[in-house]
Amino acid sequence: MALSEQSARLFARLLGRLPPEAAHRWSVRLLRGAQALGLSLEGGPHRLAPRRVLGLEFPNPVGLAAGFDKDAEAVRAAFGLGFGFVEVGSIVPRAQPGNPRPRVFRLPEDGAVINRYGFNSKGLDYAERRLGRLRRHPLPGPLGINLGANKASEDRAADYATGARRLAPYADYLVVNVSSPNTPGLRTLQDAAALDRLLEPVRAAMPVARPLLLKVAPDLEPVDIDDIAAVAQGPLLDGLIVGNTTVARPASLRSALAGEAGGLSGRPLMAPSTAVLKAFRQRLGPDLPIVGVGGIASGADAAAKRAAGATLVQLYTGLIYEGPALIRAAAEAFGAGADRRPGDRRIPETARSG
Ligand SMILES: Cc1cc2nc3c(=O)[nH]c(=O)nc-3n(C[C@H](O)[C@H](O)[C@H](O)COP(=O)(O)O)c2cc1C
Repeated sequence: MALSEQSARLFARLLGRLPPEAAHRWSVRLLRGAQALGLSLEGGPHRLAPRRVLGLEFPNPVGLAAGFDKDAEAVRAAFGLGFGFVEVGSIVPRAQPGNPRPRVFRLPEDGAVINRYGFNSKGLDYAERRLGRLRRHPLPGPLGINLGANKASEDRAADYATGARRLAPYADYLVVNVSSPNTPGLRTLQDAAALDRLLEPVRAAMPVARPLLLKVAPDLEPVDIDDIAAVAQGPLLDGLIVGNTTVARPASLRSALAGEAGGLSGRPLMAPSTAVLKAFRQRLGPDLPIVGVGGIASGADAAAKRAAGATLVQLYTGLIYEGPALIRAAAEAFGAGADRRPGDRRIPETARSG
């Protein structure tokens, strides 16, 4: 059954008046409720610019980024907003509360959010129950499961392998997230040597083979990009997600809350994350799938990600400020855009006509 545009707008207005973490919690609850009642805004993913990536069929190239549905509670409802794929998580092995509140801040003047949730997660047991129930019926698009590590873990690499062992059967693709700025020391796992040690056991732990993607930070030096690209070209990874929130604070930020600690997402992230995406595409050539994420707030932004080399895109903060109409706009613009990936070879007219 369709939820009317009007009631969706009313909910969005009410949610916008709540403090940001409460608004997040209520959004998930409302979507979960709508899902239980069989209500949805669009009835399912927009069928726009469908494509086959990672051996999976994407009804459209725009996905919900990790961090909204951390515990896999509103997956069907997210497809009902029009997304072509949904990524849940980050999920960590043992339930943990995350950082003290307040830990999410809206920066409306900048179209941005700062969060320092710190992997609040209901843990693997809970996720496994939810995903088991969810998978009893087919989903209308691919489901990604994003894995994290417990803050108090003595062996973070083992946490990712545990997540892969338990959750691969429910996933269409898995993501190793080593780029959250809110778990101290986590991002050191992005070093090339650390990555090999991390990813091998994750691959080996999967009871069923699933595409494995690495989600990286946008705050990478060229030498880090070289190292990660070298690993991505090896046998351990099937793709990259570029990228997570940034610890940088562009001088252009106007909001009084810009000094809060945590990861910045939304509009100010568009240019820097797209530059890093482009740098990865230049090093990797045209074939390895890269999911472009960071700051998409319009169709033009989605098209710019594609021009920089994105195979698919994801968004989160743009949904807060622009609402679900952004999903269709992004899918349309991405679909209409031309691939300008370095290494793409145009087939000469003469060869084509021959
Ligand atoms: C409140 C919040 C929570 C997030 N939590 C996660 C998370 O648990 N795991 C993860 O990989 N990314 C997480 N992210 C990062 C997003 O997936 C995305 O990479 C980032 O926000 C940039 O995209 P955007 O500008 O479209 O929001 C979170 C982002 C926000 C705003």
